[in-house]
Amino acid sequence: MIRVLFNQKGGVGKSSIAVNLAAISAAQGLKTLVIDLDTQCNASQYLNAEQPKDNIADLFEQFITFHLHRRPATEFCHATAFTNLDLLPGSARLANIESELHSRHKIFKLKESLANLTGHYQRIYIDTAPALNFYSLSALIGAQRCLIPIDCDDFSRQGLYNLCQRIEEIREDHNPDLQIEGVIANQYMANAKLPNQIIRDLQQEQLPVLPVYLGQSVKMRESHQARQPLIHLSPRHKLSQSLLSLHNLLEGQVD
Ligand SMILES: Nc1ncnc2c1ncn2[C@@H]1O[C@H](COP(=O)(O)OP(=O)(O)OP(=O)(O)O)[C@@H](O)[C@H]1O
Ligand SMILES: [Mg+2]
Repeated sequence: MIRVLFNQKGGVGKSSIAVNLAAISAAQGLKTLVIDLDTQCNASQYLNAEQPKDNIADLFEQFITFHLHRRPATEFCHATAFTNLDLLPGSARLANIESELHSRHKIFKLKESLANLTGHYQRIYIDTAPALNFYSLSALIGAQRCLIPIDCDDFSRQGLYNLCQRIEEIREDHNPDLQIEGVIANQYMANAKLPNQIIRDLQQEQLPVLPVYLGQSVKMRESHQARQPLIHLSPRHKLSQSLLSLHNLLEGQVD
């Protein structure tokens, strides 16, 4: 199962949620991979596994340089400190090769690599940049499920309609396997009026808001700083438990 976390809006929780769901999946015994497709490399930093060599840019570079023997994608995946959890690290160099990959029509290459990786990993979580660029489009073409985090403010609501339409187009044109698995309400404040109003509006518009909301907590930042997913840093914390419920809800929907 390949899931991509995507929202063009920045700072909504894509990296935090990708890493935490992956960590839970790994802790539950599933061989899990995080792919960091963002030049910011936040998911790689979070897992304390930045890699100057054999990262995602090195994998993509193989598609635009001549190689007698192309190395399989598995050779770019590295173990993390957490059992069952591997990382294909991000790289700032992705930005340098993006236009060449695009002009040489390499948009389906990630999908090919993913086909190789699904033989080794039961769950793959892809973290994307806050843009519909070459890499996030590649991820949407290669994935089976798309999760859309939102931060429950009015701007994210505006963007969400366009985003869902765009994903629907990608499904129609390039990837019939792609499903929007749900919208994740993140940094949710139960006592504030606006988030509840926004979620009600989205539900009325038939947008698939998942019924587990992730609250706002400083624990998330602490977890980034400690470079430890919440399930390891603070398993009993409310936010860890919400992430666990979200994970189990999603897994419950997998046939
Ligand atoms: N539930 C939460 N409670 C508190 N802080 C959170 C929560 N989720 C995310 N954050 C914080 O919000 C910031 C943005 O989160 P994150 O980096 O995961 O978002 P992103 O969508 O990946 O951002 P970008 O678009 O820049 O890649 C981070 O500082 C993170 O610690
Ligand atoms: Mg991010």
